[in-house]
Amino acid sequence: MPYKRTIIITGGAGFIGSHVVRLFVGKYPEYHIINLDKLTYAGNLANLKDIEDKPNYSFIKADICDYETVKRVISENKVDGIIHLAAESHVDRSITDPFVFAKTNVLGTLTLLQAARECWEPDGWEGKRFYHISTDEVYGALELTRPEGDPDGNECGGGPYGEDFFTEENKYQPHSPYSAAKASSDHFVRAYHDTYGMPTIVTNCSNNYGPYQFPEKLIPLFINNIRNRKPLPVYGKGENVRDWLYVEDHARAIDLIFHKGEIAQTYNIGGFNEWKNIDLIKVLIRTTDRLLGRPEGSDDDLITFVTDRKGHDLRYAIDSTKLKTELGWEPSLQFEEGIEKTVRWYLDNQEWLDNVTSGDYQNYYSEMYGNR
Ligand code: NAD
Ligand code: DAU
Repeated sequence: MPYKRTIIITGGAGFIGSHVVRLFVGKYPEYHIINLDKLTYAGNLANLKDIEDKPNYSFIKADICDYETVKRVISENKVDGIIHLAAESHVDRSITDPFVFAKTNVLGTLTLLQAARECWEPDGWEGKRFYHISTDEVYGALELTRPEGDPDGNECGGGPYGEDFFTEENKYQPHSPYSAAKASSDHFVRAYHDTYGMPTIVTNCSNNYGPYQFPEKLIPLFINNIRNRKPLPVYGKGENVRDWLYVEDHARAIDLIFHKGEIAQTYNIGGFNEWKNIDLIKVLIRTTDRLLGRPEGSDDDLITFVTDRKGHDLRYAIDSTKLKTELGWEPSLQFEEGIEKTVRWYLDNQEWLDNVTSGDYQNYYSEMYGNR
């Protein structure tokens, strides 16, 4: 039986991509899902072990910057949808090595857009969809006007750490090479709609957490370090604020928006769940200690304040009201529940952690920061 749709998910072997692939492969047996991924240090097919034998799933190892290959994959498979997650995603790496961010995030996105256009435009745009996954970091940073945190923040207007949120109307003010590259890719996606009529959608999401996140990012790095009683390198004073969303809630939003979102629209995705880094870190320590059977808080002394990240954005907070009002999406998981699930997952999957923290990754970090 021919498939109803064929969708490429780029970056499907990465953290968020693997959750999106798993959701689509399981929920839509009538779709052919092609995971197109270069398998950089952040891509890992072990993230998809449980679905790799499903008949509606294929993996193609390819670089989104490789125009001929991408075009061939779209054309030979009669692809009608692209969900684009492939990117260089770590801010610290972008500060050390900005060029690969421009190459993958900007030129890679442009390559995909142009290849899709070449394949789709001759027969018309009907039924086609190019969905680009972006970040809240393109909006820059918000002020920390309630530095002590107001527990009633969400009720009394704004969030617990400040009056304002990022809405879809905010202007782009990226600060890091990572966010500058993502901002540029967002502009190219919108330009392909405005210039050629390509049916595009862009979403900007806040910080994700959950299983399969590469342990260079705050949450998995710190869980692993607490487990191994290694120092927890807190940048600056730990006062920066991030808005955390469980990764499966992001994947559900992507599913909904891919199917029901309006063409040429932007949707912000976030959990109204702001945390100051230092407070989040204390929750991580307490949860990890408890699950390991250690006295809660006994690893507080691992907290080590280190030199701040260059250009460190102070606060992110997403207003996802549009997504809620127009499409009815809301996060399903309370933060406490999500953190508990996440810590448990990393503790139960030490082999996964050991595999991804060996080899190139270790060498990279040893060179950059010393052994962390
Ligand atoms: P990740 O680093 O875990 O995974 C990126 C994936 O892209 C990897 O599988 C990697 O192999 C693949 N990739 C990299 N370069 C490639 C190339 N040239 N060709 C093909 N594949 C390539 O990233 P993530 O955290 O899962 O983020 C996925 C997307 O979501 C990114 O676009 C990111 O900007 C965006 N995003 C992430 C977050 C977050 O909190 N992690 C929040 C909002 C938006
Ligand atoms: O907001 C969405 C973005 O969230 C995504 O677009 C990015 O791909 C994703 O990496 C993430 O960016 P952040 O820079 O916010 O995430 P990270 O986990 O690197 O850092 C979270 C916060 O913790 C940030 O304020 C920096 C701080 N931090 C991070 C690390 C790795 C530390 O204090 N120490 C650390 O060792």
